[in-house]
Amino acid sequence: MTKTNIALIGAGGMANSVHYPSLVEFEDVNLVALCDLVESKLQATAKQFEIENTFTDYKKMIEATSPSAVYVLMPPQHLFEPVMHSLAQGLDVFIEKPPALTVHQIKEMASLAEKNDCKTMVGFNRRFIPLMQKVKSIVDQNGPIIQCMSTFHKNSPSALYYNGAIDVLTCDAIHAVDTLRWMGGGEVKAVASDINAFGSERENSFNAIVKFDSGASGYLCTNWAVGARIHIFEMHAHGISAYINPDLGEKAVIHTNKGIQELTTNEVAGSDEQYKTYGFYNENRHFVDCLQKNLLPETNFTDAVKSMELVKKIYQNRIDP
Ligand SMILES: NC(=O)c1ccc[n+]([C@@H]2O[C@H](COP(=O)([O-])OP(=O)(O)OC[C@H]3O[C@@H](n4cnc5c(N)ncnc54)[C@H](O)[C@@H]3O)[C@@H](O)[C@H]2O)c1
Repeated sequence: MTKTNIALIGAGGMANSVHYPSLVEFEDVNLVALCDLVESKLQATAKQFEIENTFTDYKKMIEATSPSAVYVLMPPQHLFEPVMHSLAQGLDVFIEKPPALTVHQIKEMASLAEKNDCKTMVGFNRRFIPLMQKVKSIVDQNGPIIQCMSTFHKNSPSALYYNGAIDVLTCDAIHAVDTLRWMGGGEVKAVASDINAFGSERENSFNAIVKFDSGASGYLCTNWAVGARIHIFEMHAHGISAYINPDLGEKAVIHTNKGIQELTTNEVAGSDEQYKTYGFYNENRHFVDCLQKNLLPETNFTDAVKSMELVKKIYQNRIDP
């Protein structure tokens, strides 16, 4: 078995809770080194995942350990430089969402990755949730999907991401945008949106209808000023309708003329642990599989440009400017 040597930048929340727990389970991965600016986090994470080499300077880490791939897991306003440096060294790169602050940044990243033949991936984990994948494969049998909906609600009307470095839609609701693209199954043909600031000086509700060239209609319904965190999806094809809540302990309900089928999140994932039920384990496995098989990951930087461009179109195509 060929092992992939991966170096890690970031010893924060997502690294410790979902990504490194996934990576340490893979027999075909060596975690060669870890870097973080904060010594206490660096040492605690290195100890937890038994990573021998630790650094506070990612450039020195890459030079000293010559990995073939790098995870860069940090807030979006600090992402661009370490990603571009890694790509410039010809390394494969995994990052969390959002992929960048702007369309310009992600285009620069995608362009350098293509030029240097680097495999890249953005952790748009909703696409890798076992329940979402299972339901989509069932709906696709009656496919193509002709109508789909991404709903994402929170109760955080004045949410400020990274001290205002990035907006709600680009930073967080982009999960719903990217999943809509995945379900809609094609290129975006047209967009109309309605955006509001409910009880806040900042825009916190983004609604859109998206026409895909597959013929599908996609609906985006996001609002950070309502009852609670609710993140649900609909997929419809001829003669089949699926309503999916992929949260831990929840389920999908699929309607056809043969009756109703229910699938639970945990059963389909074969786990009660959120890093497995919510797609994080699967997305990491997909990245490593692609490196091993010389394939381009599904949510590579060039694909991520399209999700960031859809975000931009949602801002640009308001019905009530
Ligand atoms: N997919 C999801 O559902 C989901 C959920 C939450 C967060 N996220 C995303 O994950 C990303 C990371 O979030 P987090 O909460 O894990 O962040 P975090 O702030 O907990 O961790 C980031 C770490 O990076 C380190 N760091 C910053 N700059 C560095 C540098 N130059 N060199 C080395 N280390 C550096 C910090 O010291 C910190 O330990 C964010 O973009 C966030 O939006 C995704």
